[in-house]
Amino acid sequence: MEKGRETKVWAHRGASGYRPENTMEAFELAIRQGADGIELDVHTSADGQLIVIHDETVDRVTDGTGLVGEKTLKALKELKVSTSAEPEGIYRIPTLQEVLDLMRTTDMMVNIELKNSICFYPGMEEKVLKAVKEMKMEEQLIYSSFNHYSLLKMKQLDSQVQTGILFSDGWVNPAMYAKKLGINAVHPAVYHLKYPQFREEVKRAGLKMHVWTADKPEHIQLVKEAGAEAVITDYPDRAIALV
Ligand code: G3P
Ligand code: CA
Repeated sequence: MEKGRETKVWAHRGASGYRPENTMEAFELAIRQGADGIELDVHTSADGQLIVIHDETVDRVTDGTGLVGEKTLKALKELKVSTSAEPEGIYRIPTLQEVLDLMRTTDMMVNIELKNSICFYPGMEEKVLKAVKEMKMEEQLIYSSFNHYSLLKMKQLDSQVQTGILFSDGWVNPAMYAKKLGINAVHPAVYHLKYPQFREEVKRAGLKMHVWTADKPEHIQLVKEAGAEAVITDYPDRAIALV
């Protein structure tokens, strides 16, 4: 995992500044660019498969419409992921299994974000843990979510898993909150680094800090100076050059 950087570089939805987000091509490029990890988003299909896509619906990123959770894997695989990015090509929505198959060939971290704050996907936590366990990839994984109940469930199912709370700006001492819940890391938006005492609070709680989504040089610099363990970025090559 160690590539000698104090602040690791995790590719947000893959190298999504250059390839359609959450596609195999975006993850492959993150590997080629030398990222230390990837971040991805997971939902569940109508037939219970773990699907890597950001939104609850397929509308924004594909040529289809409707909820991910109401489509079968077969129907999801028929959709074309739309792209304005080069190179042109046919991009498809991957399953979590496909991404794990790829990442197992690396020593990179995989940050699975459980996208279950709006659609709850009963049983998703068990399925994700099972998939990772079967691949023997436990050491490479950290789980994050805006649904903190889901992170608690992950911990209940396996106390060894690494977890990080996602939150938006304006929270009072989210580090203390996370620590009390037995969570391992805070995953703040980059703007949260400017809140008074936040960095101190994280330090005091002894938690790790993985910051999203830092694409501008000044934001990447801010994350580095804050002493974060990882910067989550759409442009891993840019961040690597800066950290
Ligand atoms: O995990 C960090 C970040 O991805 C959370 O927000 O909306 O990009 O999934 P979002
Ligand atoms: Ca995400």
